Amino acid sequence: MIILGIESTCDETGVAIVKDGKVIISNIVATQVDLHDIFGGVVPELACRRHIDVIIPVLKEALEEANLKLTDVDAIAVAGKPGLLGPLLIGMHCAKALSLALGIPYVSVNHIEAHLYAAIMEEPEPPTYPCLGVIISGGHTSLVEMRAVGEYRELGHTVDDAIGEAFDKVAKILGLPYPGGPEIEKLAKKGSSESYTFKSGRVKGAPLNFSFSGIKTAVLYTVAGQNASIRHFEAKLNDQEKCDVAASFQRAVFGDLVSKIKLTNYQTILFGGGVANSQTLRRFCSEKLVGKKLIWPSPALSLDNAAMIAGLGYHMIKKNPEGDSLDLDALPSLNGCI
Ligand code: KG4
Ligand code: ZN
Repeated sequence: MIILGIESTCDETGVAIVKDGKVIISNIVATQVDLHDIFGGVVPELACRRHIDVIIPVLKEALEEANLKLTDVDAIAVAGKPGLLGPLLIGMHCAKALSLALGIPYVSVNHIEAHLYAAIMEEPEPPTYPCLGVIISGGHTSLVEMRAVGEYRELGHTVDDAIGEAFDKVAKILGLPYPGGPEIEKLAKKGSSESYTFKSGRVKGAPLNFSFSGIKTAVLYTVAGQNASIRHFEAKLNDQEKCDVAASFQRAVFGDLVSKIKLTNYQTILFGGGVANSQTLRRFCSEKLVGKKLIWPSPALSLDNAAMIAGLGYHMIKKNPEGDSLDLDALPSLNGCI
């Protein structure tokens, strides 16, 4: 079954063609990083305009690379939740128009669930269930028990900032461009992770929940002085000290993540979302989670992409061959992540 996937939840426009939920025939992503960089974060209005400009060219490129025509596609999968409302609607309308014109079904896929599916879609065998899903993206941070594709139970989530968001905000404090995660990883290589003592927050009574807003403020005070304001501040650190802050922050956040993973007792752990792209995190987990089977998406599938949407969409279409109704809405936020 040939599924065409569409991703436009935030600042990447992606179209991919995937066979039987696993074989990636093409996977095109047009990133908007250049557009949002100077604002230090995604500007929804600008994101919408860019999605509109590029979605059809990206669709054409995905078909050309796959050497297929639209009439070869059996169904459409689109990331319909969660995300920025305007960008989500552009993907949804594109999917619905294709579905109507081609007379084929479409399904709305949960972008977060797709991040976890990305880790398993390139594996030769399915994971041993139940396993732990670790969702670490720019907009979400959760631990979930996964019993099968489509069967999840949330164990913990962030009560404030998402992990990627914390990287992006700390990068801004350090004067680094957006997205901040890769920039902090680069800077941290030149720093000492033991120079500063930062701590991610513990959530009383909920040991598997996360809190990252306190550590962000601690970094701000270290960089600009006690009681500095995020709106107006002056960095007081030299270049080496900034590298040390980046390394110490990264170490504290990853240490917190691993300590929460250790509180659970799963043998197989799947990672999904942009922060899973961190080579530092991958090394750290291999050192600290010895004996566990760790499953990581390849770099192209860690960041937002449409291949994971088409891959998961295959399983949804198999369960629901008629697909979703044309009047289904995009959902910017969910009650829980999955
Ligand atoms: O999953 P994703 O592409 O988009 C969302 O669904 O949110 O994740 C983007 C996030 C950004 O916050 C970015 O800073 C972070 O992933 N990220 C990283 C790294 N690469 C990307 N965070 C830490 N280290 C990295 N190497
Ligand atoms: Zn994502």
